Amino acid sequence: MSNDFTEYINRIGTDSVKWDSFEERYPGLDSKDCIPMWVADTDFKAPQEVIDAIVDKAKFGIYGYPRAKSDSFDKAVMNWIYKRHSWKLSKEWIVVTPGIVPAITYAIQALTQKGEGVIIQPPVYYPFRQVITKNKRRTVESPLIFDDKTNNYEMDFEDLERKVKEPNNKLLILCNPHNPMGRAWSEEDLRKLGELCLNNGVLVFSDEIHSDLIFKGYKHTPLGMLEEKMNQNIITAYAASKSFNLAGLQTSAIIIANDEIRKKYINQLEINCVGGVNFFGTIALEAAYNHGEQYLNELLEYVEANVDYAIDYAEKNLKGVRILKPQATYLVWIDFRGTGLSADEIDALVIEKAKIAVDLGRWFGKEGAGFLRFNFACHRSTLEKALGQLKSAIDTL
Ligand SMILES: Cc1ncc(COP(=O)(O)O)c(C=O)c1O
Repeated sequence: MSNDFTEYINRIGTDSVKWDSFEERYPGLDSKDCIPMWVADTDFKAPQEVIDAIVDKAKFGIYGYPRAKSDSFDKAVMNWIYKRHSWKLSKEWIVVTPGIVPAITYAIQALTQKGEGVIIQPPVYYPFRQVITKNKRRTVESPLIFDDKTNNYEMDFEDLERKVKEPNNKLLILCNPHNPMGRAWSEEDLRKLGELCLNNGVLVFSDEIHSDLIFKGYKHTPLGMLEEKMNQNIITAYAASKSFNLAGLQTSAIIIANDEIRKKYINQLEINCVGGVNFFGTIALEAAYNHGEQYLNELLEYVEANVDYAIDYAEKNLKGVRILKPQATYLVWIDFRGTGLSADEIDALVIEKAKIAVDLGRWFGKEGAGFLRFNFACHRSTLEKALGQLKSAIDTL
């Protein structure tokens, strides 16, 4: 079944965080005159097969407690991960959780103690830091470095080695592909990171939520598939929520090969009374994974064309603005430092003057100052309007 990404869908007034809840973060902006390109969901309908599966289930009319995990759920996850990344999962490794940020929280609670260090690699998806802090663990930063030779962010392995060797640091949260700049980490980088962690007793939580969203010429490598021994030291997280626009259904598949770690993790779910699953979330994931490949390919084509269009537009029209082409994800990391403005002035230019709601680079870590993260999983007309408003704002400088 073909999907129409060219259909414009008006989301205003649909109780969407992205379109209907500006007040908290962007005082003064409202949906009527602002373009939301922040929260990481898409402005596209889910695949028709997913909608049909949900409607069928809804029509049944009984919404009692669902089974926590079914054979068909496990099979859908195993088949999808094998088809996309050639990684053979075992059924018993799969644990269902209500989302990946909650899944990280349970890992922190189950497998680290208060005061212990959790390593992150900023600039990185900011809820990582929030859940570490909220759970009274210590955030340990090993910042990525921008390399002018590769024109991309790289891991700082010397720094990482120092951090994993500190005995109080117990967990590392990896973002692969990396949000915000859409880096699909290479096998070589992953192997180095995985070995450093394994050899120094640091567990890895590998958040692979964006792993379906890989652009032409790049590849996603699951950290856990590199070596069985390494996989015993890794928790991997997948969800259909980013690629198929199902975030509101709060369902994710957590892969834990190590029996002892999985036992502790499930015990933590019980402590937090996370027994059930979302009635519609599991069947939506199944339908997406079983039938969504064509949809995903078409989505990637549409988003990549958006990215290319914006890069070309910026080169011609947006002085001092550099768009880093992502290797993965529909999130685009844009460098505004060439405008000569301060980070505060850049934020004000884009949000207050151009009236585009975006994620501020500084939310991802201090290294993000001068950058902004845009979500390009939008209709082309939304992107064109945003770029036009950006040009008008920049032309006033
Ligand atoms: C890297 C990463 N992890 C997790 C999430 C959120 O996952 P969930 O909605 O399943 O908690 C996002 C959403 O943007 C993300 O980018």
